[in-house]
Amino acid sequence: MKEQVVRQHTSFIKFLYASLIIAPEAQNVVEDMALFKYRHMCWAMADSKRAGEEFDGQFNVEEVEQLKKLKTQRELVDYLIADLEANLKTYTEETPTITRFKTDDSYFLSQLRKLKVEGKITAFSGNGELEGVELTEENKNALIFFLMEEIFKEYELILIYSFYKTYSANAIANSVFTDLAYDSIYHLKRFGELARELGVLTLPRVVPLEKYRNEPIIQFLKENIEEERDAEKNCLILAEKIGNPELKEFLLFISRQEVYHAELLQRALETLQ
Ligand SMILES: [Fe+2]
Ligand SMILES: [Fe+2]
Repeated sequence: MKEQVVRQHTSFIKFLYASLIIAPEAQNVVEDMALFKYRHMCWAMADSKRAGEEFDGQFNVEEVEQLKKLKTQRELVDYLIADLEANLKTYTEETPTITRFKTDDSYFLSQLRKLKVEGKITAFSGNGELEGVELTEENKNALIFFLMEEIFKEYELILIYSFYKTYSANAIANSVFTDLAYDSIYHLKRFGELARELGVLTLPRVVPLEKYRNEPIIQFLKENIEEERDAEKNCLILAEKIGNPELKEFLLFISRQEVYHAELLQRALETLQ
């Protein structure tokens, strides 16, 4: 099952990023698939834990990096098709989880094969503009810096919360980790969309999950409450600086979600202490 954790994790990243890059008419379909691939990853983690294995935060970096080389929407869909075809070949065991992966991926494959998309991919081109938004060079750089930092952090949090969720037997903490993981997926998507439009989308780096296996959860929660408060501040600072009303409204909305993240972590901390 350990190999399936790596495989489903890789698939999840590919579909999540594809949902940011894909042509608008196919976005819903790919976004749904990305969320299923997230659950597949979590179920593989849970089965791996039950089997007494120690999974880590590895994904297939080489395959994920290929995203940057794709030039057209068609190539992107073919890239996802190839991923599912490769997955399906590995579903040889007949466990309930593998059977679910098999039936989901087979259906997704048939849906992807029907997709008709066209156009170029510019998510990594580095020379985009935000439609209808005028930014000074300084503010544009501040926004890009913020997006790059946050995109990496959100990915890291998705993984760490999923990891803690797998190992937590406490129902309150478990529900907090699930909610935080889904909020982070949402944040990554929204930041990712802005980065895509600006042509500065960045791919995730491997998170050393081994580190969290040995770190006491209480310690992690305390540190992360501080991090959530920092995230709130970073959003507020940028919101004040940015000048554009729509972006400001978006950043204030995110900053308030960060406040609630600290609150959720506080609740988890109280039940675990
Ligand atoms: Fe966030
Ligand atoms: Fe957060």
